[in-house]
Amino acid sequence: MSNIIVNINGECTDGASAKISVFDRGFLYGDSVYEVTQTIDQTPFLLEDHLVRLQNSAQKIGLTIPLSMIDLKKQMARALVKLNVKQAYIRVIITRGEGEIGLDPALAGTGNYVIITKELPDYPQTWYREGVSVIVANTLRNTKESVDPNVKSGNYLNNVLAYAEAKKLGAFDAIMLNHQGFVTECTTSNLWIVKDGVLFTPPLESGLLEGITRKHLLTLCQTHNLPLSVVPISEDELRAADEIFLTSTTKRCVPITKLDAAPIGSGKPGPVTLQISKLYDDFVDSLFTRERAEWAQVLKSLKT
Ligand SMILES: Cc1ncc(COP(=O)(O)O)c(C=O)c1O
Repeated sequence: MSNIIVNINGECTDGASAKISVFDRGFLYGDSVYEVTQTIDQTPFLLEDHLVRLQNSAQKIGLTIPLSMIDLKKQMARALVKLNVKQAYIRVIITRGEGEIGLDPALAGTGNYVIITKELPDYPQTWYREGVSVIVANTLRNTKESVDPNVKSGNYLNNVLAYAEAKKLGAFDAIMLNHQGFVTECTTSNLWIVKDGVLFTPPLESGLLEGITRKHLLTLCQTHNLPLSVVPISEDELRAADEIFLTSTTKRCVPITKLDAAPIGSGKPGPVTLQISKLYDDFVDSLFTRERAEWAQVLKSLKT
């Protein structure tokens, strides 16, 4: 576990020394919320969006975040300064805290925060040039009426099991359906299809996380007048797609060129996927100067 710095409640250690109590409810029950982003040239990417979603997730499950967002940013900065790499993975976890064993949330003391930072190598270019192969998992995404998939909680067992199905078949990832048989998302990314030049992505009502990449892509589609429809997608529609791709903060847009071993469309990344991917990369570049200036203020505040 080299080149990992973890900040637990303000104490920064290397990865191997980072430990948390077995009575922490995140460990016992997945009673926690989290966010993942990365740095681009030492600047956290879309940090405000991620912190807003963190607070929304916490609020939806009645979990109190034990520090202000300003302090959380400072604690992230402390870990990142120690890590000192150009491109870092950042995972922020907030748990409901520790206490007597028992489901009652009132048993928890103050929440714990954990910030894991580590070097993030570039993903293989083949993912983007050739596309990846996915399966449709037998494991279903949990319904909005159970743990709402739009809460980014530490309770990921459904997704873990779906991902394990994919690995068993040598696939990159798994698409999860909901209990009505409609497409939701992949295990850690949102899903899009293209049919006859129109982009489709499922609505939140299908049961999925409101991805930050998804949100910005929806806006980009509108700004660039790309034909778009946010409607439930059946498994048949998925299999008949001309193009499929997935999106997430660290992966951006990854073309899916095989589904259950069958080629999608031409079997190569399609033109709409490549177009939207380029628009998104340009959008990311356009944010950098502002985000760097905002982060410089956080770094400055560490010295005062
Ligand atoms: C279940 C799930 N869906 C979608 C996403 C993509 O979200 P974002 O674009 O905010 O990274 C993630 C990313 O963590 C995820 O875990």
